[in-house]
This record gives sequence, C-alpha cells and structure tokens, in this order.
Amino acid sequence: MITRRKLIAGNWKMNIMLSEGLKLANSIDEYINSQESPDCDLLICPTALILSDLSEKLINSSIAVGGQNCHAEISGAYTGEISASMLKNSGASYVILGHSERRHGLNETDNMVQLKVTAAQNAGLNAIVCIGETENERETNQTIAVLTKQLENSLPSDSSILNGTNTIIAYEPVWAIGSGKTPTNDQITEVHNHIRECLDKIIGEQANRIRILYGGSMKPDNAASILELDNVDGGLIGGASLNAKDFCAIVSAID
Ligand code: 13P
Repeated sequence: MITRRKLIAGNWKMNIMLSEGLKLANSIDEYINSQESPDCDLLICPTALILSDLSEKLINSSIAVGGQNCHAEISGAYTGEISASMLKNSGASYVILGHSERRHGLNETDNMVQLKVTAAQNAGLNAIVCIGETENERETNQTIAVLTKQLENSLPSDSSILNGTNTIIAYEPVWAIGSGKTPTNDQITEVHNHIRECLDKIIGEQANRIRILYGGSMKPDNAASILELDNVDGGLIGGASLNAKDFCAIVSAID
C-alpha cells in the first residue's frame, strides 16, 4: 500500500511583510524543532517579495517555501508578472496555482491554470492545483461535475509528466474560504474520493501517490477530524497560517 506523507501548507495571501514574516517563520521553525520531527511536510507561501529572505532564513529548516502564482511563459514582455523559474531562483520549491481568489477574482480559466502548471513543473516546481465549487454550485448539486471539469482541464494534457512529487491537488470549496464554514466530513470524503478516482482515470498508476489537500477554514479545532479522513493528505491553510500558535496546532493535529 502506498502511504502519502501529509503536507501542511500556509498560504499567507497578500498579508505579512518582511520582518513579521521572518518572525513568524522563525516561531514555526522553533516549534517544529522542539517536537519529535513532525510526520508531515511543511510549506509556507508568502508574498513573492519576501520569498528569497524567507528561504534564506529557512535554509537549514525542514520548512519549504513556495509562490502563490506564476506566469505561464518562461520570460518576456509581461509587465508585473513573475515566472516559475524566478520563483525557483528565489528559493521556492512549490507554487499554488488556480486558487479561487484568482479564478473568481481575476477570471483565471482552467486553460490558463493548465499552462501555468506546465510552466511550473517544467521549471522544477511542485504545483499545488486548486479546485473548488461555489456555494451556488453546491446548492444546485453541481459540485462533482464542476470539480471534475476543473481537474481534467487544469492538469497538463501530457499526464505522463505528473507524479506524486510535482503535482498536488487542493480541494478548496469557495464558500468555505475565510468564512468559518466547512463542509461536513462526509462531504469532504465524497469529494476527495472522487478526486482520487478522477486522478486514476487521468494519470493511472501515479494517481495513488498524488496528495489531495483540503483547504477552507481549517483551524486548530477542526484540523484533527479533517486530516484523519481517507484521501485527505494535508491542508492548505489561509487565516490560521498567519499565527504561529494556530498553524503549529494544525501541524500537531496530525497523529
Ligand atoms: P482560510 O483558511 O482562511 O479559509 O483560507 C483557505 C485558503 O484559501 C488557502 O489557500
């Protein structure tokens, strides 16, 4: 049987400047070092502006750093954009792609996400591909159809390059993000099992190695019960990752 090492990732979004970020990363690192090494991978995704400083600070730590987005092109006249290799060069090993705040707030399509995932993987980054239904889509029983389409169309068409290292899926119901609301454990299980089945169809043998994270109002008080569900291989944490105590409590929730 394949065991997938859990991943706990903090998405700092457009929060936290340099000095605060260094302090927060340091507190998390100190906590990790004070424990028997946690049985999971750890990741922090700050604003790209402080990626280099953070990765230098964490050079001897087991905490990885990642970007929150990248451009699909390798380089060129794309004012204001950041390429995957620039993230890599700043010390990132992961990048979050297709977050709903970009899909819904900035009209990012599945096709754009697909191109970015390819660019990220070609640059040697592990892509965290986010998918999630809106509240209206859930209420009108479209959840599974919406997620299937997002998944099929956001992953690179050449699925032979996808593996358990360079591809991570994050299920983030749009209505759960920052709202304090979460799906029931049964709803999370239904979705994660479905994603696993879809991955199986798309990728075949490697599908079982790909981690599927849950994101959306994961907090210290609900983390343990979500993280123990079948096919939940970690968490993508927003608000609770901005506070060392809460983030570390979520890490501790992994048994
Ligand atoms: P919250 O944990 O604040 O709901 O955010 C989740 C998220 O969007 C992580 O990418």
